[in-house]
Amino acid sequence: MIEVEVEVRDLKKYYTSGVLKKRYIKAVDGVSFSIKRGETLGLVGESGCGKSTLGKLLLRLIDPTSGEIFFDGINLLRLNRKELRKIRPRMQMIFQDPYASLNPRMKIGECIAEPLKLQTDLTKREIRERVMELIETVGLNTEHVNRYPFQLSGGQNQRVVLARVIALNPEFIVADEPTSALDVSVQAQILNLMKEMKEKFTLTVLFISHDLEVVRHMSDRILVMKAGKICGEEPVKS
Ligand SMILES: Nc1ncnc2c1ncn2[C@@H]1O[C@H](COP(=O)(O)OP(=O)(O)O)[C@@H](O)[C@H]1O
Ligand SMILES: [Mg+2]
Repeated sequence: MIEVEVEVRDLKKYYTSGVLKKRYIKAVDGVSFSIKRGETLGLVGESGCGKSTLGKLLLRLIDPTSGEIFFDGINLLRLNRKELRKIRPRMQMIFQDPYASLNPRMKIGECIAEPLKLQTDLTKREIRERVMELIETVGLNTEHVNRYPFQLSGGQNQRVVLARVIALNPEFIVADEPTSALDVSVQAQILNLMKEMKEKFTLTVLFISHDLEVVRHMSDRILVMKAGKICGEEPVKS
C-alpha cells in the first residue's frame, strides 16, 4: 500500500483572456504537495487565489496547462477517457452550493440512488436498502426520501450531497468551501458530520476554505495559497 494518496508536481493552470491582446490569468502557478492516505490537508487563501481551480485539477475535472497529478500512484494525466471513467468513483468533489449539485426534479431518495444505479450493479432492492442506510449515516430520516431539494434546508441538502458522495465508497474527497453557503448555525453540524465520515471511512481529504478557523477545525495540516502559489504552511493549533 502506498502511503501517499495524492501528489501534485509543479501544477499550472493558465487561463487566457482578452480578444486582441492575449493576457494570461495564472490561476494555479507551479504548485507541488502531497496528501497522505487518511489525511485532511487544509487549503486556505483569499477569494480568487486559485483554490477551486486547484481542487478541480486534482480530480481532473479540468485539465492543467502543465504539471503532474498522481492518485494512488496512478498518473491521472496519462489516463484515457475510459480509464478515467473507471477511476472517477474513487474521487469525489463537494461544492459550496448543495443545490447546484442536486437535480431539482429528483426526489432526495433518487438523488442518492443515482450514482449507485449508474456505477454499481446492485439490484433495485439493494439500492433501496443502501439509500436508507446512507440517509441514516448523514443524519437525515426516512421521511426525507420522498421530498425534493427545494423542500429541504441548505444544511439538509448538504447532507444529501454527502450521502451521494459516500455512496460509492470514495477514497479521496475535495471539499470546496462545503459550508460557506450555509447558515452559521448549521455550519458546525455539517463540519462535524464530515469529520465523522472521514474517520469512519478513512477518507483522504483536501479541505478548501477562505476561513482559517474552519480549516483549522478540519485539517491535519494547512497550506496557504496566494496568487496561484503555495506561500507557506499555517499551524493547525493557534
Ligand atoms: N474558467 C475560467 N476562465 C477564466 N478565468 C478563470 C476561470 N476559472 C477561474 N478563473 C480565474 O482564476 C483565478 C482563480 O479562481 P478560483 O480558482 O475560482 O479561486 P478561489 O477558488 O480561490 O476563489 C481567478 O482570477 C478567476 O477569475
Ligand atoms: Mg473557490
